[in-house]
Amino acid sequence: MGITRRDFLTRVGQAGGYSAAFLTMQGLGLVEARPAKAEPLQAMPGSGNGTKVVVLGGGIAGLVAAYELRALGYECTVLEARDRPGGRNWTVRGGDKVSFLDGTTQSCTWDKGHYQNFGPARLPSIHPTILGYCRKLGVELQVEVNMSRSAYLQNDNVNGGKPAVMRQVVNDTRGHVSELLSKSIHQGALDQDLSQEDRDRMLSFLRIYGALDEAGKYNGCDRAGYAKTAGAGDETGVLSQPIDMHTLLDESFWQGMLFDEQFDMQATMFQPVGGMDRIPYAFAKSLGDSVKYDSPVTEIRKTSKGVTVSYRQKGAAKTIDADYCVCTMPLTLLRSTPNDFSAPYKKVIDECTYASAYKIAWESRRFWEQDYNIYGGLEFVTTGCSPIWFPSAGLFSDRGVLVSGYTDESNSPFGKLTMPEKVTESRKSIERLHPGHGKELEKPMYVSWGKIQYNEGSWIRSYGPGQQRSSGSGSARLPGQAPIASPRQINPGYETLVEPDGPIVFAGDHVSHIVAWQEGAALSALRAVQQVCDRVKAAKLAVSGTAVKSE
Ligand code: PHE
Repeated sequence: MGITRRDFLTRVGQAGGYSAAFLTMQGLGLVEARPAKAEPLQAMPGSGNGTKVVVLGGGIAGLVAAYELRALGYECTVLEARDRPGGRNWTVRGGDKVSFLDGTTQSCTWDKGHYQNFGPARLPSIHPTILGYCRKLGVELQVEVNMSRSAYLQNDNVNGGKPAVMRQVVNDTRGHVSELLSKSIHQGALDQDLSQEDRDRMLSFLRIYGALDEAGKYNGCDRAGYAKTAGAGDETGVLSQPIDMHTLLDESFWQGMLFDEQFDMQATMFQPVGGMDRIPYAFAKSLGDSVKYDSPVTEIRKTSKGVTVSYRQKGAAKTIDADYCVCTMPLTLLRSTPNDFSAPYKKVIDECTYASAYKIAWESRRFWEQDYNIYGGLEFVTTGCSPIWFPSAGLFSDRGVLVSGYTDESNSPFGKLTMPEKVTESRKSIERLHPGHGKELEKPMYVSWGKIQYNEGSWIRSYGPGQQRSSGSGSARLPGQAPIASPRQINPGYETLVEPDGPIVFAGDHVSHIVAWQEGAALSALRAVQQVCDRVKAAKLAVSGTAVKSE
């Protein structure tokens, strides 16, 4: 008997409920698939009453976990080693001190209102979980400009080291590729692949897409910009000469050009007004004194009833007992924290590696805005510190803070330089892209995540030998960008961490498929909370089952 699509959907809906029908419709292409939103927690309000949970770490994962656990009635304590919430989510402002593990200190003397997010600094619109918390907690967001077509790309060995402007690189590349494709079609090279009708349609498309002339040639176009812009009276514009294809084939140009094509780098991106740390502070406000600051964890033990965690609070030794533990500490810190984890967990903790991303930020007159019409966005150089990242906040004000250099420096020659040498390199990059402006940079601040106490790394790079991918989520990674570990591949270390170790569940971006993003931290925390809820429910059922049996 035949079955209509409507019958089919109705039956799926009856059997599996709304979400099953919805997923089926997506599968059939009837509704658009959207990036996943966190599943609502499957737990009854109040189901946490009487259960104690200790959360290790007050970064995004720990804060989200505590927020949700408390909402369900759990008695929850967050142990945070530092005197502030946020973990790696950290904003530095004038008056702040930056200290490294080796004792190096820097004092930030930037003007009031200036800041740098020396941790996460952008929120993609496809990260609904963390954006959802911003909405819920009233964290005001503004657009983070990830790409400016007025920004530059530069390579010392290409084009005599002359910087090229993004709009020209993008549009000249498009023109050259379109010209070649159009030529191939004319020469019959694609006759096997295209019907006559599609060949014609493709040629018309390429004429518009690549700005080709009637003969299928690319001679430059106004999308690529002007050597002299048009003005009033007799001031006609003069188009830029196209950059030749050979030059554009250099990786430093096409990679930079494709940067914001990555899934997690596409417009629209956001940032909190006033600094990324507005997010953890909003959570902290809601959590009140359930967060214990200045409380580094010194020991994690399993007990017959759950866990006992030792910590120091302002120097004094303390312990806390709980039924469950949500452990969000970076694995690099767990390595040196005495613990009772079972063997597979100890193995991943011992064998994993972390990247150490650095940023060097400077205060300066906004020469990029005032002299180059660049408002936000990133620039890339091949030799030296890259990328340059312009501020999205305070546009049109006199001065601002820009970044010159942001990559993983662990295992790199750059990482071996002294701090003054790194700062010199950072200034040189600005000089390469914007000659004469290196000297405008003042008050440098250098931060490398791996050198910061309680960070000891920026993001996980591998879960053990061979457990990393060599490229990231997209086709174009930041030039020089270190590989970020991808749990997507078969990866025993990751598979271990996503399962509870007795009463201990793990969370943090490293326990998600979205490493190096706050979205991953938040999603992993929700999953950890669900794991706790499921266990609590199972334990209650077991107790009532025993009670029934013994009656
Ligand atoms: N989320 C970080 C950033 O936006 C690290 C990262 C870089 C993640 C590039 C993925 C790709 O800079």
